[in-house]
Amino acid sequence: NEHSFIAVKPDGVHRRLVGEIIRGFEKKGFRLVGMKLVQASEDLLREHYRDLRDKPFFNGLVRNMSSGPIVAMVWQGLDVVKMSRKMLGETNPADSLPGTIRGDYCLEVGRNVIHGSDSVESAQREISLWFRQNELQCWEDSSGHWIYE
Ligand code: GTP
Ligand code: MG
Repeated sequence: NEHSFIAVKPDGVHRRLVGEIIRGFEKKGFRLVGMKLVQASEDLLREHYRDLRDKPFFNGLVRNMSSGPIVAMVWQGLDVVKMSRKMLGETNPADSLPGTIRGDYCLEVGRNVIHGSDSVESAQREISLWFRQNELQCWEDSSGHWIYE
């Protein structure tokens, strides 16, 4: 019943990667339980990335993330936090293997197209930051039997 917060960043939206990214999570077998297109405020982004507030790139990061719409999503499934980090690749696209999202679609760390929670605890914090409880859908997965043994 693990959840992760996944977001297509403004560069990913501008580059029309939303469909491809959602397709990857669906193909894997994860279940979409929340999704919206949002223009995030700088306050929300400063809170979202609060652990990085002392980094030299923090202001640029907040500016970039507020420069356009973000597709904010919650995905559910077995080990979804760890698996989605694997699917994303490394923080720096240059270190990301082909076959990962960052390995396949981008070149620079400040334009790495997607965010994924880095732990179950951050996922919970981020989901409650970006979504209200009534924006998350708990739908019956009738094909779950074909995905889980
Ligand atoms: P997110 O999924 O976005 O949280 O990335 P991450 O968990 O792989 O990395 P981290 O949380 O450490 O950094 C958050 C974001 O800050 C990264 O995705 C980058 O966009 C940006 N960032 C991290 N390190 C650097 C850096 O050294 N330089 C620049 N310009 N941006 C960085
Ligand atoms: Mg992070």
